Amino acid sequence: MTVQLSKAPSGSVPIHLVDRASFASLTKKLPAATRRWMATTGFDGAPDTHSLVADDRGHLKAVWAGVRSASHPYALSSLPKSLPPGRYRLGKDGLEPDERAAALSWELGAYVFDLYKAPRREPAQLYLDASHAAQRGSLEATAITAIRDLVNTPAEHMGPADLAEVVKLMAQAHGAQFKEVIGDELLKKNFPAIHAVGRAAARAPRLIELNWGHPRHPKVTLVGKGVCFDSGGLDIKPADGMRLMKKDMGGAANALGLATLIMACNLPVRLQLLIPAVENAISGNAYRPGDVIKTRKGLHIEIGNTDAEGRVILCDALAYGAEGRPDLMIDMATLTGAARVALGPQLPALFCRHTDLARALVDRGMAMDDPMWHMPLWRPYHAGIESDIADIVNTGKGPMAGAINAAIFLEDFVPQDQAWLHIDLFAWNDTSRPGKPAGGEAQTVRTLLAFLEERYHRG
Ligand code: BES
Ligand code: ZN
Ligand code: ZN
Repeated sequence: MTVQLSKAPSGSVPIHLVDRASFASLTKKLPAATRRWMATTGFDGAPDTHSLVADDRGHLKAVWAGVRSASHPYALSSLPKSLPPGRYRLGKDGLEPDERAAALSWELGAYVFDLYKAPRREPAQLYLDASHAAQRGSLEATAITAIRDLVNTPAEHMGPADLAEVVKLMAQAHGAQFKEVIGDELLKKNFPAIHAVGRAAARAPRLIELNWGHPRHPKVTLVGKGVCFDSGGLDIKPADGMRLMKKDMGGAANALGLATLIMACNLPVRLQLLIPAVENAISGNAYRPGDVIKTRKGLHIEIGNTDAEGRVILCDALAYGAEGRPDLMIDMATLTGAARVALGPQLPALFCRHTDLARALVDRGMAMDDPMWHMPLWRPYHAGIESDIADIVNTGKGPMAGAINAAIFLEDFVPQDQAWLHIDLFAWNDTSRPGKPAGGEAQTVRTLLAFLEERYHRG
């Protein structure tokens, strides 16, 4: 961790926060030479810029950092990799600091995926008093870091069994129950759709499950798409489309990260985490286009395309989750390219039968800079996923509304009266921005945690 929750050591350099609006008033008491230096170098408090201030002997005396606002979740994210390595603390000459945002934004900005390669440089270290706010920011950053690491780890080192191991360790750390159904056991325990998608891979498919919390608390079930690699199956993807498919377990990674936060914050809920984990591979026993697959719920799926595998594994997990009658079920999945065509990489698509709930989540996400956007479960399109020979087909009839088709497919496996959120996300940054490095990314996790805290606050 590059944020230290302990007293700042002597010699640590203060970072004063400033925004454009307050730049003139906050810097007016500075020595004339410092103000001239800022003017000469063009520092005006713009977000993600900073000014290094030296003392008379040329030692670093202070940093002035431009922020959107002190409470912005990425407020300090540009600093850890650009300030000279060393020890820093929050200063008091600028805007009132927000320790939660400071801890979160610093840690997110310091992130590097260093499993195979040493980082280019040491990040600068921030010392913060171990306040409740700072701890909360650090906790969120730890979960987001774990999500990024999981998504960034190549499929070779993050197969279904590796994902299960991560959940097992998580269960041990929080005193939760862990179980899994592996390989042919999936058939015996009635998860035929998960088995069908995963059976061709050298690494056995499985359903990973974690349970935690007090039996009397309301149940929240999280489901994450855990496709550890998506080759497309027999409907094989072209090279371009396959290149990033190590990240097809991004839904699982996000669900898992949200689950750790729920447990770490000790939310008064009974948590169930379900991860159907498979590799969508090609082999002699691969499931085929045109096959008809039985599901846990009893509905039969005609396979229009083996690359639409996510909805096939999720339908068994959702049906199983719903059997436990949770107060709320949330699934997260890198489900469709179509959701990205519609909304791009930064905006996960949220589907929910309750418009009020969806809109409240959209508003909350925007306010927290952890956004999602509401899309409709448009029933009339259901005609387009009906099959001549089975109950439902896993592809639409044409090129349109791909994200909606996938969502209304899933809807068939969620009882009408079950509160349910479906989030179709990208889990990836194509480019690097402060606090959002290229590679695996957490999406909607902070927003969902805040929403769950409000929904299930301790009375
Ligand atoms: N994992 C992909 C969806 C995906 C692709 C998400 C690229 C993010 C980026 C999914 O399994 C898939 O291949 N979906 C197909 C469905 C189609 C065959 C109906 C898609 O979206 O093209
Ligand atoms: Zn696919
Ligand atoms: Zn996929």
